[in-house]
Amino acid sequence: MRKKVVAGNWKCNTNLQEGVELAKAVNEAVAKDGAKDVVVVLGTPFTHITSVVDAVDTNRIGVASQNCAAEAKGAYTGEVSAAMVKSTGAEYVILGHSERREYYGETSEILNKKVALTLENGLTPIYCCGEALDIREAGTQNDFVKTQLEETVFNLSAEDFSKIIIAYEPIWAIGTGVTASSEQAQEMLAFIRGLIADKFGAAVAEETSILYGGSCNPKNANELFANPDIDGGLIGGASLKAEDFLAIINAY
Ligand code: 13P
Repeated sequence: MRKKVVAGNWKCNTNLQEGVELAKAVNEAVAKDGAKDVVVVLGTPFTHITSVVDAVDTNRIGVASQNCAAEAKGAYTGEVSAAMVKSTGAEYVILGHSERREYYGETSEILNKKVALTLENGLTPIYCCGEALDIREAGTQNDFVKTQLEETVFNLSAEDFSKIIIAYEPIWAIGTGVTASSEQAQEMLAFIRGLIADKFGAAVAEETSILYGGSCNPKNANELFANPDIDGGLIGGASLKAEDFLAIINAY
């Protein structure tokens, strides 16, 4: 059965001490009341990863970086490679987030390299896709998301594709307090699952965890997660408060 996943994306928030405190609080709460069948992931800044890995029970909580370099190693000042991320004990890499596509010019070509390096290093990509408001208003969101997937992760072999997690995050719902309705989210995730079935077969589609992200919070998580194709969430703002993040985990 495919896994349910609740992953926090802390983005560029918390200093090291605050991040470790947050991770410890999540760790404690998950050990006490966290839904046992939910994979919990903390997507921390690079600087925090090693300390967060040390602060949590990694049998229960996975740690993610929010990016990695598009090159394996070498003279790329300021970059952090997938191999470096792997060496910290992290297990996941968030890739293709709309903020990276929009503010840092990440193209499909760049993302293909990052996905490949992530997989080569035995890390699990949490691969993001999703449309902007003008595309949703024009009603072309399905075509847009299909192209995003076709240009990137649909180039993988079925074996490699089956190792990744997909996150659908409509840009108009990120950090805006405007959540996609549970019908909109379910409709898109079912559409994505159908594309995966067409490309890789029904068995791969059935096993792929597809997450929703965008203003997911303790109030709406329950309704969102009740949908058959929504396998969890990628959580921004609400992952910065242990109590809210735990409430989302327990929405299952
Ligand atoms: P918010 O939950 O703050 O809307 O952010 C979602 C997101 O971008 C997670 O990657």
